[in-house]
Amino acid sequence: MIKVVILGQGMGASHFSVGVERIKVGEVEAYGVPLANYNLKYPISELEIVASYDVDENKIGKTIYRVAKELIGDYIPIPKTLEKIEVRRGIHLNSLSGMPVKACGLEESSSLSKAIDEILEEWKELKPDVILNTITTEYARPFRDVSELEEAIAEEKTSLLTATQVYAYIAYLYSREVKPIAFINAIPVPVANDPAFLNLCEKSGLVIFGDDCATGATPFTADLIEHMRERNRRVKHVLQLNIGGNTDFLALTDENRNKAKETTKSSVVEDILGYHVPTYIKPTGYLPPLGDKKFVSLHLEYVSFNGVVDEIVVNMRVNDSPALAGLLVDLARLGKIAVDSKVCGTVYEVNAFYMKKPGPPGSKAISKIVAFQRLLEWLKSIEGVKL
Ligand SMILES: NC(=O)c1ccc[n+]([C@@H]2O[C@H](COP(=O)([O-])OP(=O)(O)OC[C@H]3O[C@@H](n4cnc5c(N)ncnc54)[C@H](O)[C@@H]3O)[C@@H](O)[C@H]2O)c1
Repeated sequence: MIKVVILGQGMGASHFSVGVERIKVGEVEAYGVPLANYNLKYPISELEIVASYDVDENKIGKTIYRVAKELIGDYIPIPKTLEKIEVRRGIHLNSLSGMPVKACGLEESSSLSKAIDEILEEWKELKPDVILNTITTEYARPFRDVSELEEAIAEEKTSLLTATQVYAYIAYLYSREVKPIAFINAIPVPVANDPAFLNLCEKSGLVIFGDDCATGATPFTADLIEHMRERNRRVKHVLQLNIGGNTDFLALTDENRNKAKETTKSSVVEDILGYHVPTYIKPTGYLPPLGDKKFVSLHLEYVSFNGVVDEIVVNMRVNDSPALAGLLVDLARLGKIAVDSKVCGTVYEVNAFYMKKPGPPGSKAISKIVAFQRLLEWLKSIEGVKL
């Protein structure tokens, strides 16, 4: 079994929880899970959610069943098996500040060090293999240096820390004291891109995948850009608009949080083409009636043979959170495979396919078509898949 702990029981995590249980009983096919048709060492049926953490007072104490029912129960049946897991209180560190949510973390009624100890003790009982981080997007700077990170935690310099960084630090403590696990960072906070955390991996065997899962339009744009590169078409500009009506988009109306997303998205084009192209790629707006089905518009211009200029315009409506959940199904299994294979640190081949800003720091984004082949090669090399 792969024991999974969820951080942030929002839309993405709820689709993950519900989808995995439905796949297990054959109620739905595993479409949207990239490696579903490959013979991975761990089938999807091996995934077992053992705990979930949130800081929203409206979710804490409820079962995942109840939370999922409220979020997506109108259009998707919620399996009763999710009644077993209650959402626990996590660490807040103001990740929800400015959002219309009543939030409170463990550290707010005691101290950060006590909160860290409490979660670490819970994990020692739960014995997780994988931690999935799907909390609200936060803005953070990489620490780069372990001593600075540890000083910030020890001296409770909470203004320098985000919840994601503290959760990743607890994963390090657990890996060091109990057994190595995998921390999957689906959000833009630099973790796989922070040398401080990669250093902690070396000391403990912790595996980190990140940062920021690549779901809707960005992988599509990356593959389109690869198409341009292979045909030696000179791209003049790339514009990608995203408007959605879920709480992720609401959070991104905050300028700092949006900046975090922008940083993980905009390097993609230049990395693939190898030259500078003016781009506008970022979440553009929040429109509640769109709900989770975001509207994406893409426009690019390129110079073709004999100097003529062509244009591509694509419009799509994409269900945002299920796209994330499908990737998490693979990432949890790949995390456990990496730990079994005694890989520690981060794995570029995994990140390049699943993430917008693949770690380790300095890594280039490549198209997802190319990245998928590299991922399979890596899996073969560690005997994680039978092809
Ligand atoms: N397609 C996608 O949906 C997609 C793609 C890539 C990345 N992401 C990232 O995944 C994350 C989750 O997306 P979502 O659509 O599920 O958002 P969401 O707003 O539905 O869920 C986020 C959840 O995290 C909780 N949370 C916030 N701070 C927390 C903390 N400190 N500890 C524990 N829980 C906390 C919130 O209360 C909420 O339940 C976002 O950061 C988003 O940027 C999403």
